[in-house]
Amino acid sequence: KFEELAQTPPLGWNSWNTFATDINEELVKGIADAFVRDGYKEAGYEYIVLDDGWMSRERDENGNLVADPEKFPSGMKALADYVHSKGLKFGLYNCAGSKTCAGYPGSRGYEYQDARLYASWGIDYLKYDWCNTSKLNAEGAYMTMRDAIYAAGNPMVFSICEWGDNDPWKWGKDVGHIWRVTGDIINCWDCEVGHGSWSSWGVWKIINMRKDIRKASGPGHFNDFDMMEVGNGMTDAEDRTHFAMWSMLASPLILGNDIRSASKETIKTLTNKGVIAVNQDKLGIQGLRFTNADGFEIWVKPLTNDEWAMTFVNMTDTVKQIDFDWNHHEIGDDINGLRLDTKKNTYKIKDLFNNKSIGTTTNNLKSTIASHDVLMIRLKK
Ligand code: GLA
Repeated sequence: KFEELAQTPPLGWNSWNTFATDINEELVKGIADAFVRDGYKEAGYEYIVLDDGWMSRERDENGNLVADPEKFPSGMKALADYVHSKGLKFGLYNCAGSKTCAGYPGSRGYEYQDARLYASWGIDYLKYDWCNTSKLNAEGAYMTMRDAIYAAGNPMVFSICEWGDNDPWKWGKDVGHIWRVTGDIINCWDCEVGHGSWSSWGVWKIINMRKDIRKASGPGHFNDFDMMEVGNGMTDAEDRTHFAMWSMLASPLILGNDIRSASKETIKTLTNKGVIAVNQDKLGIQGLRFTNADGFEIWVKPLTNDEWAMTFVNMTDTVKQIDFDWNHHEIGDDINGLRLDTKKNTYKIKDLFNNKSIGTTTNNLKSTIASHDVLMIRLKK
């Protein structure tokens, strides 16, 4: 059922970051095969989503959307069947406006018809964009599409993509499962590329813009920090940090790289089960920044059963030592009503990227962290 989807952040892949509109059915099949071959499926990734560019430029004589016959000669139903045959789910993109951002036919005025078509193809996920929407009210436009999906009868994850322009964290909960919180991501640590509302944002720009709306997230409704850029050109350390942070933020983990040809290191990062488990924790709480001092950012995320995730990021350009005294840090006095009490309790510490135990909270946490790299730990009593 619609209301039962995305109780934890959706895990999947989306074509846009790497391929833009240069997509086709062989690509989708190759991605589905890589999901199985390289352990993504086993790690929990489920949705394969085609972004903008899958359609023909015009609707057919009945007003139906048409999959581009050159890119998708077998049609979308056959492609959905292929993805389903691998035990995976399939998603598509459209837009609330008259045209999509890349100029293909949008859903404005065709919402119910389009939703019925997606349902007849077996589509499991819809990303719904916000270009060419002059005079539309965002909440209303997204509610219309939600109702259309509902009426079409096939449960779909509904991904709201209006870039945070209309405060979707205030109304998105009852409308969609996830909502983008900024303009588009780009593969850099902390850059801004472009101007004003046309900017693309690096990883830390996005985090810093939206770290304060954390209470909007919860099971079934999550802030979406955008498709990931892991494997798309940052260093392996920066990729680890990006992945750790998206997990701490309970963001959807949507791969944005060409996983058919990813490096061993990229696969290792993206399929790390300990990190994914932090993202997928049932409480669905978006983590918060406990402190940033001495070149470190320290983030904390409460997990079920009084377990906790913590992430130490070296923001500087050089290697740094961390020496963290559990007795002198009131970490999260009250995080969503929960409290990490290292004075009352002793927690065992697990280093998630290295998958090993590194002592308890009775001693200082000491570690060496490379530039832009991360120590991500899980605490358990
Ligand atoms: C917008 C969205 C992107 C992508 C493109 C497609 O920019 O924010 O994620 O879907 O449109 O044209």
